[in-house]
Amino acid sequence: MKKILTGLKPTGELTLGNFIGAIMQMRKMQDEYDSYLFIADMHAITIHQNPSELRKRIKDFLALYIACGIDPKKNIIYLQSENEYIPAISWLLECTTYYGEASRMIQFKEKSKNNANFSVGLLTYPVLMAADILYADIDLVPVGIDQKQHVELARDIAIRFNKMYGDTFVVPQPLISQTGTKIKDLKDPTKKMSKSEESPNGVITLLDDVELAKKKIMSATTDSEMSIKFDEEKKPGISNLINIYSSLTGKTISEVEKEFEECNYGTFKKAVANVVADTLTQIQEKYQELMQGDALDKMIDEGIQISRKIAKEKFETMKEKMGLHR
Ligand code: TYM
Repeated sequence: MKKILTGLKPTGELTLGNFIGAIMQMRKMQDEYDSYLFIADMHAITIHQNPSELRKRIKDFLALYIACGIDPKKNIIYLQSENEYIPAISWLLECTTYYGEASRMIQFKEKSKNNANFSVGLLTYPVLMAADILYADIDLVPVGIDQKQHVELARDIAIRFNKMYGDTFVVPQPLISQTGTKIKDLKDPTKKMSKSEESPNGVITLLDDVELAKKKIMSATTDSEMSIKFDEEKKPGISNLINIYSSLTGKTISEVEKEFEECNYGTFKKAVANVVADTLTQIQEKYQELMQGDALDKMIDEGIQISRKIAKEKFETMKEKMGLHR
């Protein structure tokens, strides 16, 4: 059985963009693949986080994964920082990664721009991401388009390490979904809907009040035409809403265009708002259940044990191949 893995950083709150871009894909694939899903909390601290807020978000994220339909019986679910072998593996990989490669990463360039005091972790972050993937010999990494470059770097690192020290890692591939790859901000549909977005009306979080979420869809930026047609360049707002509707209903883009051929923007937005509201209601009900009792902790304890065992073996293999032993 092929292996898939993905992670989410607990910065800001989980959004509809994360749900459509990453979690929904994992949910579809959990029956066909050996699946790993983790909270990338060590990635979150590349930028300063308030410790008590981070702790709360970690628990929310874990509960939300499961509330979103990720089945702990079919997935290995864990918290990255509870696996101490991952940063150890990351160090060994850092020593086989070029500075030029790391500093070319678009996300690094964007986040370090206009910030003289960015952390070294911001630069080495994609190598930690490579460790997240390579330790478990992952075949496919479902991610949004913004993470594609990082997965490609993980591939390059794996290929280089295999050449230098002999076959050690499976070379992973990014898996970008057809629709919903990049859900945009509702107010500024040229930007991605981001967890840390400062435009609260442009972002729908999974724990948003359902009525408020509907209002956000109803007031989403569109255009002055009246046609519900997918055209990301000329009609980014409508295309974003089509993407959301198509992803949540499983209908294709052309089916959505056909369904709303005769409708005005108000009617279309109402339909999108209702689908979003149904999705959020289901997720929030399960989330509330999971936040009570200790069932959630037990699920995560199981996941981390498996993850640590696999990572320990890979770490020992790497050390041996690199000559790090007596
Ligand atoms: P993060 O936490 O920024 O985002 C988590 C996942 O959600 C996708 N995503 C989106 N997809 C569609 N539309 C959006 N608006 C949107 N916003 C985010 C991201 O592409 C990502 O797939 N470095 C990663 C976390 C990570 C990871 C890994 C992922 C750490 N190690 C190993 C895969 C494998 C990150 O910051 O994702």
